[in-house]
Amino acid sequence: MISRRRFLGHAGALATGLSLDRSMFAAGFALPPEALDPAKLEPYVDPLPLPSVLKSTGTHPDPEHPGKTLPLFRVTMQEIHQKVHRDLPTTRLWGFNGSVPGPLFETRSGQGLMVEWMNQLPQKHFLPIDHTLHGAEASAPEVRAVVHLHGGRTPSKSDGYPEDWVVPGKSLLYHYPNRQDAALLFYHDHTMGINRLNIYAGMQGLFLIRDEREDSLNLPRGRYEIPLMLFDRFLQSDGQLDYPVSPDPKSPWVPEVYSNVMLANGKLMPYLDVEPRPYRFRVMNGSNARFFRLSFGNLSEMNIIGSDQGLLPAPVKAKRMLLGPAERTDIVFDFSAHAGEKILLKNDSFEIMQFRVAPAASTQPPATSTQQGSLPPALRTIDRIPESRAVKTRRLTLDEKMNLVQESMGMMLNNTPWHAPVTEKPVIDTIEIWEIVNLTEDTHPIHLHLVKFQILDRRSFDVFLFQDKGELRFTQSVQKPGPEEMGWKDTVRCEKGHVTRIIVPFEGYTGRYVWHCHLLEHEDNEMMRPFEVVEAGHGA
Ligand code: C2O
Ligand code: CU
Ligand code: CU
Repeated sequence: MISRRRFLGHAGALATGLSLDRSMFAAGFALPPEALDPAKLEPYVDPLPLPSVLKSTGTHPDPEHPGKTLPLFRVTMQEIHQKVHRDLPTTRLWGFNGSVPGPLFETRSGQGLMVEWMNQLPQKHFLPIDHTLHGAEASAPEVRAVVHLHGGRTPSKSDGYPEDWVVPGKSLLYHYPNRQDAALLFYHDHTMGINRLNIYAGMQGLFLIRDEREDSLNLPRGRYEIPLMLFDRFLQSDGQLDYPVSPDPKSPWVPEVYSNVMLANGKLMPYLDVEPRPYRFRVMNGSNARFFRLSFGNLSEMNIIGSDQGLLPAPVKAKRMLLGPAERTDIVFDFSAHAGEKILLKNDSFEIMQFRVAPAASTQPPATSTQQGSLPPALRTIDRIPESRAVKTRRLTLDEKMNLVQESMGMMLNNTPWHAPVTEKPVIDTIEIWEIVNLTEDTHPIHLHLVKFQILDRRSFDVFLFQDKGELRFTQSVQKPGPEEMGWKDTVRCEKGHVTRIIVPFEGYTGRYVWHCHLLEHEDNEMMRPFEVVEAGHGA
């Protein structure tokens, strides 16, 4: 019997009558160790780890302002061994500066910085590379890395283009000007063809930008503000990471990875001691493919105050919060009414972590409105961009394609492979509408580098008619984004059978960037395309 959970087909693959045969690996492969059953571990024995805040190691000339300097940070990518649970042996991971998730950057809007990302990983990968994927050919070095700051308005040269990877022993010196609003960003590996494996191995961390507007709101801060990166992973009973593989050893790629083992800041079922007062949670979904639907306690009310690119116009009261891969949310949860209780953070009915609420607050909280549990009614002004300001509307499809080598369903953007010439060339300082037509059976979190955008709407349409005749016929009225999506975004959930429209100001820098699905298995297998921001007169 094979106890390891393997991916055995995809809804789409089954629908086309393709079957993936389990017996194929029962024959020629050694059976891997058993899968870890998290229900057999004692929950809530480890404190929630909090990422350490990075300190600069010196200064470096500012690439934009001769004569000035910027703080320099040095970050190494290394193999590490880290405990994910008290009762498990250490787990082999790839982290930044010795931890998974990596250390926390904290800076202010407009305060630029330089980072030297040093690849000190081993020469061999420990997760299953698929050499049939574009960019991961057997001729390419096995271990490669490049770092992208997700949500950053970053010059193209420092954006971590997927082909700009470096091998162990080499490093990249990147410049992050951070001329953007306060927000929770994150950095992660972005290497062509193996990005899903590098991130699965642990290569991601959080990056906070602060600004005056945020300061003025007196939101919970210091030890009352908790960065929280959530991701699922398959673990073996010996604590080691297990990345699922297809039955074909020549092409181990699988279309999606979902596990029942969920980690919070790299720990399995940790706890956090809290006081009976409001806390601010800066939450990011670092899963390869899992969507979280988060709730506190028995659907206790939380306040959602921010999304990918910073604060919402106003707090939104909610009992659940849906968070796709790479999306961020900013939640204020008030433990005041729960003194002495234990409150769980859950993904639907699955428990992620526990909060142990002390019987009393440690100090008398200052008498600001926030700290008494009520938030300011307005957080910031976000003007909705009128559609009339868009100079161009692009219709872009999300497509399924049968991959005969991998015998499974792959995904593409606009039916165009990664290496085809650039087709999207927005002009700097113009606004465009991107109309994303999802022809697949999945929800895809679509992310654009460089920009922040607003979600206009979603609308279901007749997929067959579109595939047959290229005609777009809507089948329902428009759905406006929910109030928790009314801020600035950089990643949008594109639901199956829907057209999702976003309105995007292309600002900041010209140059080459990428847009892609943030389901990492899709991204690594052609669901990514370049786009290029160009000067006026060169648009396409
Ligand atoms: Cu999280 Cu290309 O990005
Ligand atoms: Cu990004
Ligand atoms: Cu996708």
